[in-house]
Amino acid sequence: GPRPQGPERSASADFLPARHAKLGERFRGVRLVVPAGGYKVRNNDCDYRFRAHSAFAHMTGLGGELEPDSVLVLNPVGDEHEATLYFHPRASRSSEEFYADARYGEFWVGARPSLEEMSTLTGLKCAAIDTLGDALAKDLGQVQMAVVSGVDAGVEAQVIDLRESAGIAESCAKLDTELAEALAELRLVKDDFEIEEMRKAVAATHEGFEAILASLGRAKGHRRGERVVEGAFHAKAREEGNGLGYDTIAAAGNHANTLHWIGNDGPVRPGEMVLVDAGVEVDSLYTADVTRTIPVDGRFTAPQRRVYEAVLEAADAAFVRAGRSGVRFRDLHSAAMEVLARRLHEWGLLPEGVSAEDSLSPEGQYHRRWMVHGTSHHLGLDVHDCAQARREMSMDALLVPGMVFTIEPGLYFRADDLLVPAELRGMGVRIEDDVVIRPDGRPEYLTAAIPRRPDDVEAWVSGLIAD
Ligand code: GLY
Ligand code: MN
Ligand code: MN
Repeated sequence: GPRPQGPERSASADFLPARHAKLGERFRGVRLVVPAGGYKVRNNDCDYRFRAHSAFAHMTGLGGELEPDSVLVLNPVGDEHEATLYFHPRASRSSEEFYADARYGEFWVGARPSLEEMSTLTGLKCAAIDTLGDALAKDLGQVQMAVVSGVDAGVEAQVIDLRESAGIAESCAKLDTELAEALAELRLVKDDFEIEEMRKAVAATHEGFEAILASLGRAKGHRRGERVVEGAFHAKAREEGNGLGYDTIAAAGNHANTLHWIGNDGPVRPGEMVLVDAGVEVDSLYTADVTRTIPVDGRFTAPQRRVYEAVLEAADAAFVRAGRSGVRFRDLHSAAMEVLARRLHEWGLLPEGVSAEDSLSPEGQYHRRWMVHGTSHHLGLDVHDCAQARREMSMDALLVPGMVFTIEPGLYFRADDLLVPAELRGMGVRIEDDVVIRPDGRPEYLTAAIPRRPDDVEAWVSGLIAD
């Protein structure tokens, strides 16, 4: 029978030519090969759900589970590049693949798009993957070639072999690293489509936190209450988005002091706070990254509130710093540390005779005992976005409109840390918000609607405010 209507042009398609042109500017005369990656085996014939490499997602606008084993090629033509998306189009319903291929066959995993459908969806010229080899080999020597490495071993080996045969292995030696850097640096400044997707990711994450609050009663009654919290968020992430941007941290009490606590197998006890670090990745694969530290009974104890307020003050200091002109990315961390060092000094936690200023000096850093991680990272398709960007383009760079990043200071007082007063031991607080620099240079909390001030958090947990 007739097949259903194919997909419509995606909202991202209009943004792709500018992204390609910007990347191409750095690589005149170089063929750029950007693979999506393929399925990853979980065991035997069971694969993990497919999620494309973020550079591929950015350059094609493809999200969801589209499209394993695809490769985007930007081919140099004069001073520009022409994009072609190579992928495995669906096989006919009378093919062996349709019935017998459990990994790719339509009867097993559903229909893949046709060439025409993919072209409509992305606005890109599309071709069958079995023509990729010829396309990569064409005119090699006259053109150089770079590949995003570590994504698709088969495609990477093909590129390396072809470069060797064409005698250009040496001239291309540094190109792969430069391509990875360029793709990451391109994402440091988000376009309007991307910022809209970030807003959607934050909205879905907000819903996820609402679901967590609704689950707290059950969490407190369950031997693995942290799993109840994790599950509540996960359900929303799948309902509203593609899934999680990263494994949820649901850390009650002293578990909050294990920064990557993702086992989440502990109880949620009355009187404790639970630190939840979670983000929904929407269908376009952009993710939020939010942490809230929630008093499970709806009230902070006095020591909990004291720590919470110090962390909040540090976060807001970083946010205010982001609004100043001439601010570099790394200055956000300094702003937060200035507050925490001061508070820790006031509480008598720094060694005797060490002032907050001493601690902030490069040789000091005593306060870092209780705040070991960074305060900010770029955010987007990857939770730690743009990680391959050169330092001068990221940590040392000026903040500019379109940048999206987190502000996430914390204080972590382990139960076995005898340097801190007993009343503070066994609690960890992190407050993590997502920020965009607006066109006027001012920062905006994308996550402003998710309660973060202590009174608001208490009212939120107690069900007194609905958002
Ligand atoms: N959720 C990872 C991070 O906050 O960086
Ligand atoms: Mn983060
Ligand atoms: Mn986080």
